[in-house]
Amino acid sequence: MATTMDKIVSLCKRRGFIFQSSEIYGGINACYDYGPLGVELKRNVKEFWWKSMVHEREDIVGLDAAILMHPRVWEASGHVAGFTDPMVDCRVCKQRFREDEIDPKKLEKRQCPHCGNTDSLTEARQFNLMFKTHMGPVEEEASVVYLRPETAQGIYVNYKNVLDSSRLKIPFGIAQMGKAFRNEITPGNFIFRTREFEQMEMQYFVKPGEDEAVFNHWKDERMAWYLLLGIRKEKLRFHQHGEDELAHYAKTAFDIQYEFPIGWKELEGIHNRTDFDLSKHQEYSGKDLTYFDDATRERFIPYIVETSAGVDRTMLTILVDAYDEEKLEKDTRTVLHLHPKVAPIKAAVFPLVNRDGMPEYARRMYDDLRGHLKVFYDTSGAVGRRYRRQDEAGTPFCITIDSQTLQDDTVTLRDRDTMEQDRVPVKGVLPELTKRISG
Ligand code: GAP
Repeated sequence: MATTMDKIVSLCKRRGFIFQSSEIYGGINACYDYGPLGVELKRNVKEFWWKSMVHEREDIVGLDAAILMHPRVWEASGHVAGFTDPMVDCRVCKQRFREDEIDPKKLEKRQCPHCGNTDSLTEARQFNLMFKTHMGPVEEEASVVYLRPETAQGIYVNYKNVLDSSRLKIPFGIAQMGKAFRNEITPGNFIFRTREFEQMEMQYFVKPGEDEAVFNHWKDERMAWYLLLGIRKEKLRFHQHGEDELAHYAKTAFDIQYEFPIGWKELEGIHNRTDFDLSKHQEYSGKDLTYFDDATRERFIPYIVETSAGVDRTMLTILVDAYDEEKLEKDTRTVLHLHPKVAPIKAAVFPLVNRDGMPEYARRMYDDLRGHLKVFYDTSGAVGRRYRRQDEAGTPFCITIDSQTLQDDTVTLRDRDTMEQDRVPVKGVLPELTKRISG
């Protein structure tokens, strides 16, 4: 059965992954809250990214810069002048569109994609996507600050600080995860395009001339990362940006795209930003941002290769890719085949029935496992229904304490995907789970 966005939205709400922000007030457009399961999934995705991009590498360090930055940063970066989308309005139905998203045939007739009236679209106006606010008690032009639309600039303005306080030499990278904000004209498709979201970005500083080889390396590395997350290979592809798509800072750009229910869409961008950003910050700040290479006695502004992924979009990809409605002999089960390393709950512990000492045994086991893994204890309803609830939550393993457990200290360990149950000694459960989760 085809996975639709509606099915994902409904499962996310039902199981406590994702809720509309401020729902009891009617919601606020394009902002979402992560519930108990969603926040665990999100933390696991971010931790896996950090482990792969920072902890497992000796050439990349981390950073956590402030969201609010000096307003000159955004002038230097080109965002004040150039971070705009062309916006058109329909004079009849009052809907607003991005001009570059309208079918060219309709655009020629100035035809509204919503109500269909021709000659109804206004001329395009450039709309800046940055959220503005004011710093301090007076709301005047001089106090304007922006909510950052990308985390990257926090890295560029700190590149010298990091270099001077570490023993790094080019080539090296700085990685950062954090919130970004864009006043999108056409947000939508659940958490695909929101106005508040999180990015996981890494900026790799290289000698000019070495940028293209490094760019190709990172393209491959980042694609491989999604495969390690368990995403199906056939659902991923590269898309190279044409001249008309390139961002103002990029010389070359590739998107990693995923085939969502709404079609092939960008999941992550890999950009060759050349020396654009550091040159601009050097010009606007008046500070020397050159790098001196001891070995060759050369001085230059490094080129930057950027990998820029969205946390929320990665979550949507994981959920869509994992969602399945499986036909069984008597019924259908909804299951999330999440990779165990990102699954919010690693194992659920159940007493088969609520008597004969089984709940007490199960509770002890749950307490023992809790210090090692995110586990869940459930006694309510028939055991079959408890399995189904965990299938929908993407829990890879269920441990059931039954009458045999009380006699020989063994339990059943159920695998979510195969639904097979193995009998395992209680003492062997944690090592077995650890093996299966990391395997
Ligand atoms: N620093 C470069 C940069 O920000 P981008 O292609 O504009 O590049 C990178 O964004 C990634 O951030 C995207 O591939 C996507 O995963 C995520 N992203 C961008 N805008 C988003 C939005 N409005 N909602 C959710 N995720 C978004």
